[in-house]
Amino acid sequence: MKLAARAGRITPSPTLAMAATAKAMAASGIDVADFSSGEPDFDTPEPVKAAAEAAIRAGFTKYTPSSGIDELRHAIIDKLQREQGLHYEKSQVLVSCGAKHSLYNLAEALLEAGDELIIPVPYWVSYADQTLLNDATPVFLQTREEDGYAIDAQEITRLVTPRTKAIIVNSPCNPTGATYNRATLEQLAELAVSRDLLLISDEIYEKVLYNGATHTSIASLGPEVAARTVVINGVSKAYAMTGWRIGYAAGPKDLLTAMANIQSQSTSNPCSISQKAAVVALREGDAFTKKMVSEFDRRRRVIVDRLNAMSGIRCPMPSGAFYAFPNVSGLLGRKSPTGTISTPTDLANYLLKEFQVAVVPGEPFGSNQHIRLSYATSLETIVRGMDRLDAAFKQLT
Ligand SMILES: Cc1ncc(COP(=O)(O)O)c(C=O)c1O
Repeated sequence: MKLAARAGRITPSPTLAMAATAKAMAASGIDVADFSSGEPDFDTPEPVKAAAEAAIRAGFTKYTPSSGIDELRHAIIDKLQREQGLHYEKSQVLVSCGAKHSLYNLAEALLEAGDELIIPVPYWVSYADQTLLNDATPVFLQTREEDGYAIDAQEITRLVTPRTKAIIVNSPCNPTGATYNRATLEQLAELAVSRDLLLISDEIYEKVLYNGATHTSIASLGPEVAARTVVINGVSKAYAMTGWRIGYAAGPKDLLTAMANIQSQSTSNPCSISQKAAVVALREGDAFTKKMVSEFDRRRRVIVDRLNAMSGIRCPMPSGAFYAFPNVSGLLGRKSPTGTISTPTDLANYLLKEFQVAVVPGEPFGSNQHIRLSYATSLETIVRGMDRLDAAFKQLT
């Protein structure tokens, strides 16, 4: 069968693939130290689960309005107003099956052949593939570890062409854990306004911040910035609800209407039960998030200290999200008992096969010098996994 060309442009999500391999190994009885999953190991908070149970018992199990129930859209509007001082009408808010789905609706509504989307590197894997799926071209902005992955205003300006449609802003960032300061956000906003570009602000890790830092949405920098920003967010990371599949987008009405139309012709509404649960998460979940993040903070320090103590590894302290992104270039070119480790993918394969440690190699994030480790896993796994990494790296010659 001849498939559509777009299907051949992409690969399955490598983070999901590695997580699936690690889970399958664990299910077959292998003791895996799994750092691949981009999801909190905490259970969904009880009041959220209770709301879902109540929804089932009440028979709230039918189609809902395609764009989401009013109660949830209003909870999102209230949250954005309360936390960021942003004001949206209901027609500007669309609930989807996870933030990934929100981004996909956006890519479909916005992009076509010849369009360019600027993506700072390292980047979350799906930005580039969703762009390719919609016939457009990802344009990569290199950032540097030694600058804390900051965006250089001059460099990004040089990448803007008449075909540039939008810029991805992902702070806190997956995979680096870096956050943008206000000056950077202001420069990006100024560029977007002066060159008539859309800002796609993926704020899914906004509540996973350390050392008392607070999140600033780029949309909050002024009405002319809000008018050209789509805020993407969801409940997966902040409320340990990855499986419930609720994300949302808020932004300019014409764009959000187009996205809502696409959703109504593709998936229809997100799960009715999950929507009821998400209302409670958004209204009552922040105490839970605070506790979870303080535990992530403890783990963050342990994993980064252990990584930095290993020869050949350099790991900056992430300021947000729950990933360590160590530079492993000091190990590349060394030999393992089974062959030369030339790339982060070779290293990840070696770690999984020989030491049962699951990490995600840097290549799908746009780096050939790093690996990504999620520390949204128990301290016991972190200690066990770091002992194995230590042993694995010491065997390289
Ligand atoms: C940066 C980023 N954006 C969006 C998502 C999608 O989250 P979800 O679809 O679970 O809401 C993820 C998940 O890993 C992510 O890391």
